[in-house]
Amino acid sequence: MNQDAIWQNLHLCPSGDIDQTLPNAAIVVRQGKVAWLGPYDAIPTEHTGLPRHDMGGRWVTPGLVDCHTHLVYASQRADEFALRLAGASYEEIARAGGGILSSVRATRAASEDELFRQSAGRLEDLLAEGVSAVEIKSGYGLDTTSEAKMLRVARRLGEHYGITVRTTFLGAHALPPEYANQADDYISHICQSMLPTLAAEGLVDAVDVFCEKIGFNLAQTERVFETAQNLGLPIKLHAEQLSNLGGTALAARFQALSADHLEFLDEAGVAAMAASGTVAVLLPGAYYFIRETQLPPIALLRRYGVPIAIATDSNPGTSPTTSLLLMLNMACTLFRLTVREALLGVTQHAAKALGLQDSHGQLAVGRSADFVVWSVESLSELAYWLGRNPAYQVVRQGCIYTSRKDTV
Ligand code: NIG
Ligand code: FE
Repeated sequence: MNQDAIWQNLHLCPSGDIDQTLPNAAIVVRQGKVAWLGPYDAIPTEHTGLPRHDMGGRWVTPGLVDCHTHLVYASQRADEFALRLAGASYEEIARAGGGILSSVRATRAASEDELFRQSAGRLEDLLAEGVSAVEIKSGYGLDTTSEAKMLRVARRLGEHYGITVRTTFLGAHALPPEYANQADDYISHICQSMLPTLAAEGLVDAVDVFCEKIGFNLAQTERVFETAQNLGLPIKLHAEQLSNLGGTALAARFQALSADHLEFLDEAGVAAMAASGTVAVLLPGAYYFIRETQLPPIALLRRYGVPIAIATDSNPGTSPTTSLLLMLNMACTLFRLTVREALLGVTQHAAKALGLQDSHGQLAVGRSADFVVWSVESLSELAYWLGRNPAYQVVRQGCIYTSRKDTV
């Protein structure tokens, strides 16, 4: 229940930057928003009569943001995982009609309620770790009806759980069987019919393309971007995941919110991102799960000052995870990010990757009271535990969503 109250006795990290923290702090919540935050001793007198929640000196961060997921899909692909363990590559499985297309078959066949039910379970895992905003892509429907079904489920999830969901249209994820060997025709269908229809229904917040040898080429990607631009929709891109096609530079030309994956990104692409203010979204779960060995160009991203975000890429083929905290750990262990970079990557920078930097990823007066109270001795523990959730209390819009006994 939403009740005006003071959360006190906090070790507060309001910006998601672990170099900027405030001991013995308090947050005043009124009508689901942050009415005031600062040192406990300085709570303005107009608030002092409110009920109190004493957090015993625990650490508090903004609600986390998962800025790249394919959370809505039916079934799973554990059989394919077994094939890969036996030696088949992700690309080979995709070319043989498995991979994304196998999830397309299951997602098309599922009723909207069934799709909601399966996806809700995954979302609840994310929420338990303090995620309060999540991006959800379409891309397992690949026809107007099924893409609309996915996007409606994404919207319903946001309403049902009272969280921010940003929907991204990813019709150009794979070539549907109806358009086999006719990629250009499928792109025409997307640009002339599918995307404008779904946008008119208010189902699309951003547009993405899988720009890759087993996805869509640069010219096809550009056509989708032009359509998005004409509709006034921001763009994102799956780029340079398995090879370097130059998609990132193209995305930067369209002022993309983010370019994602980026293992094969070169310096020209990094420079283009820096110039356009595009966020680099790194997805260590996919890197790990397909046993990639090419690391994203972290040193270049740092040198050019490109903001780095971290996300789950939660999907049945390359990143079947529902833990953003596990991604923090992997970003540090696999990509050698610092804990500070990793935490910024699931707060401020992740919000920017969704165009939500003015409302999410930081705690400030007037913003929604979305925060997480952690049972940890230091914030480094958020990236340290391997599959453990130290969230003590998750607060969204001033409501306590989960609260559990201290386990430290
Ligand atoms: O982000 N690369 C394309 N899309 C997903 C994988 C989707 C799938 O295999 O189902 C990704 O890795
Ligand atoms: Fe993805």
